[in-house]
Amino acid sequence: MNNIINLAVVGLGQIGSYLLNEINTKKKDIELKTGKKINVVAISAKNINKKRKFKINKKIFYKNPLKIFKIKKIDILFEAIGASDGISKKVVETALKNKIHVITPNKALISKHGDNLAKLAESNNVNLEFEASVAGGIPILRTIKEGLVTNKISKVYGILNGTSNYILSEMRDSKDNFSKVLKKAQKLGYAEPGNPKFDLNGLDAFAKVRILSALAFNTKISKHKCLVEGIEKIELKDIEIANQLNLRIKLLGISEIINNQLFETVHPCLVSKNSYIGNVSGVMNAVILEGKPVGKSILQGEGAGPGPTSSSLLSDLFSILRGDIKKPFGIPSNKRKSIKYYNANNYVNSLYLRFEVNDRSGVLSKITNRLALYKISVKRLIQTPDKKNNKATIIIITHKTDEINSKKCLSVFKKDKDILKYPTLIRIYN
Ligand SMILES: NC(=O)c1ccc[n+]([C@@H]2O[C@H](COP(=O)([O-])OP(=O)(O)OC[C@H]3O[C@@H](n4cnc5c(N)ncnc54)[C@H](OP(=O)(O)O)[C@@H]3O)[C@@H](O)[C@H]2O)c1
Repeated sequence: MNNIINLAVVGLGQIGSYLLNEINTKKKDIELKTGKKINVVAISAKNINKKRKFKINKKIFYKNPLKIFKIKKIDILFEAIGASDGISKKVVETALKNKIHVITPNKALISKHGDNLAKLAESNNVNLEFEASVAGGIPILRTIKEGLVTNKISKVYGILNGTSNYILSEMRDSKDNFSKVLKKAQKLGYAEPGNPKFDLNGLDAFAKVRILSALAFNTKISKHKCLVEGIEKIELKDIEIANQLNLRIKLLGISEIINNQLFETVHPCLVSKNSYIGNVSGVMNAVILEGKPVGKSILQGEGAGPGPTSSSLLSDLFSILRGDIKKPFGIPSNKRKSIKYYNANNYVNSLYLRFEVNDRSGVLSKITNRLALYKISVKRLIQTPDKKNNKATIIIITHKTDEINSKKCLSVFKKDKDILKYPTLIRIYN
């Protein structure tokens, strides 16, 4: 690599424009630490006239990012458009084919096409870096690839979506309901104003779980459907009851090897108020790794936003400027294994079940008999009557049972007139 490095930044939204400003203000620091002079020679976004947080140089602006490759000599390209397909994928593929290093925070792209893009990068002898795609400013991917490189990792899990964590924490603290807190999150820029769906339904966290699994276990990116639930169905009532039980609700992403099979999931969990993860609040992310010989390691930090994301993007830039060509997933693509998937039906947990029922004799025994029929034993039962409306809330904490058993057991309550809504189920995580 020459001492003068040409950069392109494609996408000048929340991330791209902040990144551009960081690059411009940190040029001297970059030169001092890497010995390389960097120049931004091309930028791209949809609309040249859009008002942006930071001033842009319109002389190097391209409406069509694919034109950049024909006109400019680029060494490293940042892709910050977003989405798994379309122009983002095309830009990244074209750059790699043209032997240009690529840096991206795009988890949707990497979790869907990461295997093929990694092969393309390797065959063209360039880097594909995506530290910012998982857990914002937390250097979790580099920790797995470099700091913990000799460890055998058995499990990676944690809070991987700052929007969900903010909503759950804020519901607990403000006692406002889900939709009111979502509006607050949107106002504060923690949730997308138009379509916050992927943050709330668990799919954003699941994309990150897939990337983490591939790195932690040297496997291909998983393609299976797994147990993915978001926080949309969590009610203030559950958060308040959890509080009384000394528990907190957290959206966890989990990836682990069980009996040599890969198990990946994202779902809301009840965790102890005194646990480490129970105390990670607001937009914070936390990732916990279990490996040998290191034991348990925890990394916590801001999981989103232009500042933390740019921090990771620049660490990728430094890595490229300083070093040799690296394999995107740590080892050569042809050495990454396919792995069998653990059957999610066998996933075992204690459960929190909330039933909203008509307060009539025989209803409680109908529920407990059904649980007994499926050998789900009750650890704790709390019944709270609402005398005025002849209704009651029944909370049951069960001993451990597996997914398929609990699903079969609860299915009957869809049709029961005394059960006013399908029971709320939240898994309790040790
Ligand atoms: N926001 C975060 O906190 C965060 C955190 C971690 C990772 N990420 C990832 O970072 C990436 C960017 O996110 P963001 O929040 O910055 O998105 P954003 O604000 O929506 O910005 C997207 C940018 O892409 C540009 N764009 C769209 N279509 C284009 C096209 N055909 N050609 C050229 N440019 C095009 C837009 O142009 P205009 O500005 O002209 O409309 C805009 O500048 C995504 O992959 C996201 O998942 C974001």
